[in-house]
Amino acid sequence: MTTNVVIVGTGGMGREIFGIVRAINANVSDAPVWRVLGFVDDYPTESGLKLVQRLDVPFLGPSRWLAGQSPTTHVALGVGDPRWRRETDLAIQPYGLPAATLVHPAAEIGPDCVFEEGLIALGGARVTTNVIVGRHVHLNQNCTVGHDCVLGDHVSVNPLAAVSGYCRIESGVMIGTTAAVLQGRTVGRDATVGAGAVVTRDVAGATTVKGVPAR
Ligand SMILES: CC(C)(COP(=O)(O)OP(=O)(O)OC[C@H]1O[C@@H](n2cnc3c(N)ncnc32)[C@H](O)[C@@H]1OP(=O)(O)O)[C@@H](O)C(=O)NCCC(=O)NCCS
Repeated sequence: MTTNVVIVGTGGMGREIFGIVRAINANVSDAPVWRVLGFVDDYPTESGLKLVQRLDVPFLGPSRWLAGQSPTTHVALGVGDPRWRRETDLAIQPYGLPAATLVHPAAEIGPDCVFEEGLIALGGARVTTNVIVGRHVHLNQNCTVGHDCVLGDHVSVNPLAAVSGYCRIESGVMIGTTAAVLQGRTVGRDATVGAGAVVTRDVAGATTVKGVPAR
């Protein structure tokens, strides 16, 4: 069975999601799993629109295009920034459409992990065992999330970042590219961990830390 999906966001993340869909469809021998109806975006840039056009998929207009869609049409949030993704999630919730869970065939999610709708996992992302993942979490290329972690809603784990076991990463957190979070640490709601940082202590909510050790 093929399910329709609309990608929200014409930026890099939205177009990367299109790549995940293609990879998922290429991995099955019968009917495609997903059909991308197109992209919606309330604030598209000229370059984003040009790049979407190159993918040979229509730009459908602003997100209100989603109003009145069949309730079987799914959405995929292609918004990289966690807080902006939360806003977008809230803005489109009135349309009542389910969110697609899109896991690249080259990503690995442990069988006993529990995730809410909207998980996006790019190629090489790895989540091991007993990890609880909130809604619209983005796991970027080659990141790892170790055992027994809890990731809140709208978290982004950027490429090559490593979240060790027993960590708690609260809603709206961004873990920057190649950052490491040592085992058992908590990163508070809406905090940002800079690229390359090593988190050795808990991080307070709504703060930005960077460096080694992260401060
Ligand atoms: C930490 C971060 C959030 C800070 O952003 P910012 O507040 O806009 O920071 P600025 O670029 O203004 O830089 C401020 C200072 O911090 C330094 N800095 C920036 N990022 C840093 C990092 N990751 N580690 C160490 N120092 C950093 C800058 O060199 C600058 O130092 P200076 O004042 O001595 O010149 C950001 O740089 C970062 O690392 N973001 C993660 C990016 C990422 O993961 N991208 C992947 C997307 S898929």
